[in-house]
Amino acid sequence: MAEQFDVCVVGAGPAGYVCAIRAAQLGFKVCLVEKRGALGGTCLNVGCIPSKAMLESSHHYLEAQEGLAKHGVEVGQVKLDLGVMLARKDSVVKQLTGGIGMLMKKNKVTVKNAWGTLKGNGVVALDDGSQLSATHIVVAAGSVPVELPFAKFDHEVVIDSTDALGLEKVPERMVVIGAGVIGLEMGSVWKRLGSEVTVVDVATRPVAIMDEDLSREAQKLFEKQGLKFLLEAKVKKIRNSELGIGNSGAVVEVELPNGFSKELEGDKVLVAVGRKPATKGMGLEEIGVALDERGFIKVDAHYATNVPGVYAIGDCAPGPMLAHKGEEEGVALAEVLAGQAGHVNYAAIPWVVYTHPEIAGVGMTEAEARAKVGDYKVGKFKFVANGRALAADASEGFVKVIARKDNDELLGVHMIGHNVSEMVAEAVAVMEFKGSAEDLARIVHAHPTMTEAVKEAALAVDGRAIHS
Ligand code: NAI
Repeated sequence: MAEQFDVCVVGAGPAGYVCAIRAAQLGFKVCLVEKRGALGGTCLNVGCIPSKAMLESSHHYLEAQEGLAKHGVEVGQVKLDLGVMLARKDSVVKQLTGGIGMLMKKNKVTVKNAWGTLKGNGVVALDDGSQLSATHIVVAAGSVPVELPFAKFDHEVVIDSTDALGLEKVPERMVVIGAGVIGLEMGSVWKRLGSEVTVVDVATRPVAIMDEDLSREAQKLFEKQGLKFLLEAKVKKIRNSELGIGNSGAVVEVELPNGFSKELEGDKVLVAVGRKPATKGMGLEEIGVALDERGFIKVDAHYATNVPGVYAIGDCAPGPMLAHKGEEEGVALAEVLAGQAGHVNYAAIPWVVYTHPEIAGVGMTEAEARAKVGDYKVGKFKFVANGRALAADASEGFVKVIARKDNDELLGVHMIGHNVSEMVAEAVAVMEFKGSAEDLARIVHAHPTMTEAVKEAALAVDGRAIHS
């Protein structure tokens, strides 16, 4: 007889495992089904966490080479031990994924290390031959990298983001297709470690969905670091290298806006052209769960699909593919199932690109404010006028605040600079409370801190920044 649960969550990424914990806290009998050997999904195993470990380590490597001397710190010859760097990354991942396992035990969530297939009527079949049944089934299956139709991943030369986290040798030349979040983060890692990196994108600027000012500044700063960009360039073909870098190179053929073509050679080609919802092979089509035109599972405001008792959250449901968006949906859904008022404010979801400098934002870009609101005002403040930034040798970048003209409500806050991933939180908090630029400007900020630039940018909205 099938084991019975109140809630069965399929997929143990940030959306799924958080939903399982919250549901258990609320008194449900919960099962979490996950095929991967470790819990935590893409984010903990092959995404957010290992990439941040590599970004941090490669930044230290570069700092030792180029950054310390101006502080009067002399180092001898700096040497890279990539094996140690990769092992450190793996141990961070192991510690965190192990921690999720402990959380499951603590919250009495039953974990099934198996592939789950939805069979309808609350039944989930596991690939170990067993079945379980649940009143509520939560699909939190995540997403997978998009493949170029003409160049499938061979995971040797044409690689995805997972492969790019574990290269055992620094490639001499790397071509990155896609100047999005993954392209910039992983391109930065390998550039710092010694690769010659060229980033190709069809768009006119990197991470084209972010505020244009940030995009332009980011490109300028990354070019200064030695990353090469080839924009408005359409990749037509990837073929084996005839010249050969070893036997493993590839040639990327791109078409430029003027109609000319160009060939780029790399011993690794990282394809980072987006991710798509993972919805295949788990019975969704068979039981009639509807997908939208982009392949996301269609849900209502309470994450319910068209099939009663089946819900979807995280990357496989509509919205930005961000771990924290999935986590919040996991909490909200568990609370809705318990009869509470679970809710996610999609207007105040921050995003971050963990390059150096970092890029972060929340709310509308200036283009969105122009299109949706019309009358808006903008305040900007550069880190070069911030004392802490200068002391920390972190004077690149700026903060940009956008507010409504009529009532001063904050519409968006965007920033590029050292550690802005942490600084964006205060903007999110003020926006969550529907605050104004004036509210942000009136908050007392410790001196000297880089957060003073946020206050100054908020003051600049009405032309009264103090230090510019
Ligand atoms: P992305 O959507 O950020 O960027 C993809 C880029 O590829 C776009 O700039 C697009 O113009 C370009 N592109 C698409 N097709 C192309 C083609 N045929 N030739 C050349 N360029 C092409 O996707 P990415 O970087 O793969 O990331 C996937 C998802 O993972 C994103 O939704 C992102 O939010 C998430 N992610 C978030 C991170 C973070 O929050 N720090 C880190 C890594 C990923």
